[in-house]
Amino acid sequence: MKRVMTLVLLFGLAAAPVVAGSTADQVVESRAAVKDFAGKLKGELVAALKAGGPVRALSVCNLRAPMVASAISEKKGWRVARTSLKVRNPGNEPDAWERSVLERFEARKAAGGDLKTMEFHAVVSEDGKKVFRYMKAIPTAEKPCLACHGTAIAPEVAAVLDDLYPDDRARGFKAGDIRGAFTISQPLE
Ligand code: HEC
Repeated sequence: MKRVMTLVLLFGLAAAPVVAGSTADQVVESRAAVKDFAGKLKGELVAALKAGGPVRALSVCNLRAPMVASAISEKKGWRVARTSLKVRNPGNEPDAWERSVLERFEARKAAGGDLKTMEFHAVVSEDGKKVFRYMKAIPTAEKPCLACHGTAIAPEVAAVLDDLYPDDRARGFKAGDIRGAFTISQPLE
C-alpha cells in the first residue's frame, strides 16, 4: 500500500511539469501578439504625433486603438485588448480577474519588480470552458505618454479629452507608473 502511494505521489510530481508546459505555446503566442499590438499602436501614435501633435494623435488612440485590437483579435480568434485600474475608455474596464492581476502588478512594482518584464498567465474556467489568460504590464513613459495621461495636460488636449471621455480616469500618471496592461483571452476548448 505504501509503495502504491509513493508511486502515485511520484507520478503526480512527474506529471506537474507536463501540465505547466502545456501552456508554453500560449505564452509564446501571447507575447508575440502583444508585441505586434504594441508595435502597431506605437507606430501609429508616433506618426500622428509627428504629423499634428497630441490633439491630432488623440484620434489615433480614440479610433485606431480599438480597431487595431479588434483586427488582431479577429485574426487570432482570441480577445486582445488593453485595460487599467484607471481607464480612459469605459470599454477597457477590467473584469474581476484582470483587476486582481493589475493589483498584483502594483504590489510587485512596490516590491521593486521590473515593469518591462512583468506578466502573468493562468488557465481559468469561464462558463465551464477552459480559457488561457495572459496579461503584460504597460509602463508609463515620460514621452509621449504624459502629454495625454500626465498631470500637466495642455488645455487644448484636455478639452478634446473632456469631450470624448467625460468619465476619463486616465490622467495624473507619472513616468514609471503602471499605465495598465495588455490582456489576452485564448479559448482552449
Ligand atoms: C495623443 C494622446 C495620447 C498619448 C500620447 C497616449 N495615449 Fe494612451 N490613450 C489615449 C486615448 C484617447 C485612449 C483611449 C483609447 C480608447 O478609446 O480605446 C488611451 C488609452 C490608453 C490605454 C487603455 C486603457 C484606458 O485607459 O482606456 C492604455 C493602456 C494607454 N492609453 C497607454 C498609453 C501609453 C503607455 C502611452 C505612451 C506610450 C500613451 N497611452 C500615450 C491617448 C493617448
